[in-house]
Amino acid sequence: MPITVLDHPLAAHYLTLLRDKSTEPAKFRTLTKKLTLLLIVEATRGLTTVPATVETPMEAYSGRKLGGGLIAVPILRAGLGMLDPLLELFPDVSVGYIGLERDHATAVAASYYAKLPPKIGGRTTLVLDPMLATGGSASNAIARIKEAGAGPILMLSIVAAPEGVARLNEDHPDVAVFSAGLDRELNDRKYILPGLGDFGDRLYGTE
Ligand code: PRP
Ligand code: URA
Repeated sequence: MPITVLDHPLAAHYLTLLRDKSTEPAKFRTLTKKLTLLLIVEATRGLTTVPATVETPMEAYSGRKLGGGLIAVPILRAGLGMLDPLLELFPDVSVGYIGLERDHATAVAASYYAKLPPKIGGRTTLVLDPMLATGGSASNAIARIKEAGAGPILMLSIVAAPEGVARLNEDHPDVAVFSAGLDRELNDRKYILPGLGDFGDRLYGTE
């Protein structure tokens, strides 16, 4: 599926501030939340709604409410920075966690934790991971989420590299990818250029 890149002046503004190497962790976390809010609104456009009638103080109103419950799966650790805005907009979401860490030498992600909601069957699942670099972490997580029986899967990232988008398209062509930015390439250490460095380190002040 083609990637959807946010096309909004606010997204461009927040993403530029986020990339700035002088942005400290507290501001970095705030900007991550703001960008994720914009991403969620874009990614959930296609959610189904069901008819719902309420009484206004004046008369009956035939409106619509959200249908089935969503699942969110942040990929630890950096994906945790994107969870709060999702809980804010969808307070009834069920949350699973997948822990993956890239080896510094090979950039291949190894799994160290996974806990998915028991009732994931058929439900729309939003995978949260701010960096889509080689795509190895996202592909691995999505494979596990599919094994658990999830319904449609939406992948939300803050910065994506063409290599990561291509990998996801190959491994999981059914997954829709949304990102605040699509960058130029990976360097020889598999970091995104121009990118913003190590997201988890900048989010949690561990540089
Ligand atoms: C970062 C990032 C992604 C992954 C992306 O995590 O948060 O999960 O790298 O790279 P990939 O597309 O090449 O797999 P990292 O392994 O640094 O762990 P962290 O979130 O705990 O910092
Ligand atoms: N993970 C990061 O945090 N940054 C990159 O550029 C690539 C992977």
